[in-house]
Amino acid sequence: MAHHEVDHVSGVTTTGHEWDGIKELNNPLPRWWLYVFYATIVWSFGYFLVYPSWPTLTGYTKGLLGYSQREAALTAVAEGAAARLQAGQGLADATLETIQGDPKLLEFAMANGKAAFGDNCAPCHGSGATGSKGYPNLQDDDWLWGGSLDAIHQTITVGIRSTHEESRISDMPAFGRDGLLERDQIKAVASYVRSLSGLPVPEGADLATGGTVYAENCASCHGEKGEGMAEMGAPNLADAIWLYGSDEKTVVETITNARRGVMPAWDGRLDPVTVKSLAVYVHALGGGS
Ligand code: HEC
Ligand code: HEC
Repeated sequence: MAHHEVDHVSGVTTTGHEWDGIKELNNPLPRWWLYVFYATIVWSFGYFLVYPSWPTLTGYTKGLLGYSQREAALTAVAEGAAARLQAGQGLADATLETIQGDPKLLEFAMANGKAAFGDNCAPCHGSGATGSKGYPNLQDDDWLWGGSLDAIHQTITVGIRSTHEESRISDMPAFGRDGLLERDQIKAVASYVRSLSGLPVPEGADLATGGTVYAENCASCHGEKGEGMAEMGAPNLADAIWLYGSDEKTVVETITNARRGVMPAWDGRLDPVTVKSLAVYVHALGGGS
């Protein structure tokens, strides 16, 4: 293969490299490119001087500025921690109402509450807080124990049928299992309850008996018209929202054996600032007054 062969089309010598008959021309580098290249070399000397650059036997050259990414990161982390501590302290001292009225505290409480919800509550209430059978949806404005800030805070603090000594407690009797009502009475009252929210009832259902059974056994907790009662943690039975399900079989099962869902207490397990944050967060999801 001949070196310094001259390409007869362009008149430029070739490098002698050839692939499948294609030869490489030995063109000089463009001027502008060369100058940029020299400029970067000059620039690098300036850089060596100002910033940490060359390794030495015991460490590295520190540069005139004394800049260190490690130190910059540590400072940023320390500043963040100080800001969080301050915000946390602000939450500890503030009432729930104050937090809601203060945009800065509210922002911090919401972020804190959201994170704590994902860690502690999502396994039962769902990551979107929409609940599932037996685990209430916290997004809707339908509350067993009340949807005010204080009511929600209390529920989270002491739990429901939990081991906390001040736990919210309300035990619906197991009307069938404990022999308080006959099978027919349970069927009748189940139909009656379903009729409250306009659900269809089986042909020949005895709504009159159902109504009487309801007034005598259920109204004390669920209210005269099935509107529910927050002091008893008893759900509204006249709306379209069901904790355990609205079909005939499920309602009969609920009345026969009762449910008595358990919500753990968080007092002592989560610090007060986190519990407050959770109350604010959950209230913002679907709370009311
Ligand atoms: C082990 C499952 C479980 C976990 C974990 C749990 N909950 Fe609950 N929660 C329940 C159940 C069950 C109920 C409904 C109890 C009932 O039937 O009365 C409930 C009810 C509630 C209520 C009352 C709803 C209403 O309608 O009044 C709130 C508020 C609540 N939970 C918030 C939380 C928060 C906040 C957390 C996380 C710190 C949490 N829950 C963690 C199971 C759980
Ligand atoms: C001592 C109060 C109390 C009495 C009396 C009571 N309940 Fe309940 N009931 C509750 C509570 C509290 C719940 C909440 C769910 C739980 O136990 O986890 C509930 C839940 C229910 C549910 C489930 C609703 C849903 O959304 O899935 C139905 C249905 C129901 N009750 C019907 C009745 C009927 C019918 C009677 C009368 C025969 C009755 N209850 C009597 C307290 C009571």
